[in-house]
Amino acid sequence: MHDPSKPLAFTTPFWDKVISAFWLAFLAILGVNLISNMVLFGDPMGPGEAKLEKFGYPIEVVAEETGGGEGGGGDKMVSSLPMIAAASLDEGTAVFRKCAACHTSEAGGANKTGPNLHNIVGDAIGDRNGFKTTDSLKAIGGNWSHDKLDDYLENPKRLAPKGSMSFAGLKKAEDRAAVIKFLVSVTDNPPALPAQ
Ligand code: HEC
Repeated sequence: MHDPSKPLAFTTPFWDKVISAFWLAFLAILGVNLISNMVLFGDPMGPGEAKLEKFGYPIEVVAEETGGGEGGGGDKMVSSLPMIAAASLDEGTAVFRKCAACHTSEAGGANKTGPNLHNIVGDAIGDRNGFKTTDSLKAIGGNWSHDKLDDYLENPKRLAPKGSMSFAGLKKAEDRAAVIKFLVSVTDNPPALPAQ
């Protein structure tokens, strides 16, 4: 059996096999991990935080679609146009407080972060006195009809993806109807409300 004059070391043929089997298993697991990271994330080191976010994105989209119900969102927004005529101007004035951080509404009012909005309804899009409008907003073209305002105010990035209005949008059609009523009230010769 064991020769007591030699130290008991893991050098017998038996222990050689055990140790090399262990290393083989270790390398195999490492290899499978590297390859699966490569396949899943295109990076042998596995997902960085940014990639993990991307990986989770499809789930977020589903959650948004089923979680809606706040009155529109995405392309399925509810038009506020039928509600403008009956909307309350007081409510519109109150909703405009959200806008007033960036916009004035009186005649000759200053441009702030956003342009002055006096006479905005029916006016050319992206042509406000002395304000540096983005090309993205100008690219919408045409005039601020009630309809375009409704669309823009629900989600400013939909019509002007690279526009500079950092505002999430008014998701409730009632709020948009009210604020459009307010914008009409600060416009000297507003176009007639479109027939419903
Ligand atoms: C955080 C600041 C901010 C808030 C809040 C904000 N806006 Fe704006 N708004 C901007 C900026 C900046 C622009 C210029 C966008 C561009 O050039 O792309 C703009 C542009 C506009 C325009 C287009 C003007 C044009 O040049 O034709 C309208 C209309 C408008 N805003 C209405 C509103 C209304 C109504 C609200 C409130 C519901 C609101 N905004 C809230 C910053 C803001």
